[in-house]
Amino acid sequence: MSDWPYPFLFAHRGGGRLAPENTLAGMMKATECGYQAVEFDVKLTADNVCVLLHDDTLDRTSDGHGPMAQKRFADLLDVDAGSWKGEEFAGEPIPAFSDVGLYCVRSRLMANVEIKPCPGRDVETGQLVARDAALFWQGESVPPLLSSFSYEALQAAVAAAPWLPVGWLIDHWQEDWQSRLQALEAVSLHCNHKILTAERVKAVREAGYHVLAYTVNDIARARALKAWGVSGVFTDELDLMRQDETLVVA
Ligand code: G3P
Ligand code: MG
Repeated sequence: MSDWPYPFLFAHRGGGRLAPENTLAGMMKATECGYQAVEFDVKLTADNVCVLLHDDTLDRTSDGHGPMAQKRFADLLDVDAGSWKGEEFAGEPIPAFSDVGLYCVRSRLMANVEIKPCPGRDVETGQLVARDAALFWQGESVPPLLSSFSYEALQAAVAAAPWLPVGWLIDHWQEDWQSRLQALEAVSLHCNHKILTAERVKAVREAGYHVLAYTVNDIARARALKAWGVSGVFTDELDLMRQDETLVVA
């Protein structure tokens, strides 16, 4: 892997606002819009299958109900994760990580796999997502970048697949960021863009880590972050952001 193979723009949750989040339709939308990289969220079913879903429960983004932690993979087969976003997405399934991994590899779409454990399932989710990612991207020149708000999940991921790059996600500034990144041998710090300042970005860059920022839906903000030294942003506004050539060119 070259030092940093990822582009500046990552399509957030697959297709951002243009498709139901965390679905294959979203990944295809990102490809269609010319994106070279996507971010998506992965958690475990009750029977330990890695699937894509943001929330702890199915309710907001599908016609299913209740916590994912209580569903077996077979329970998800009839769930419609597309209709809430529009009739054209009706019947879109909650995808298995294996299907999305295969799509990314075949389409040469780079991936930031966010490990998003169901409550209390941090360790096994970190282990199994990393194990799957290592398998799906085996032999590929650009590995998926793993990230998580759960430090515990990241520690488990690193133990399971130490060769995969990892980044720690933070929503509030953490004064101990450097020792935490060092302990993980992480490559990046993924921050809510609202907590970033030029000084903070500079300090993280000088310590040898990349800074990624979520969720950036404004061109002027994306440009400012880039000027500070931020290496990438996650955006929902796929169409808008790609209109700015300075952001598209890595
Ligand atoms: O990984 C960046 C971003 O996706 C983190 O927030 O809630 O959209 O998963 P969230
Ligand atoms: Mg995410």
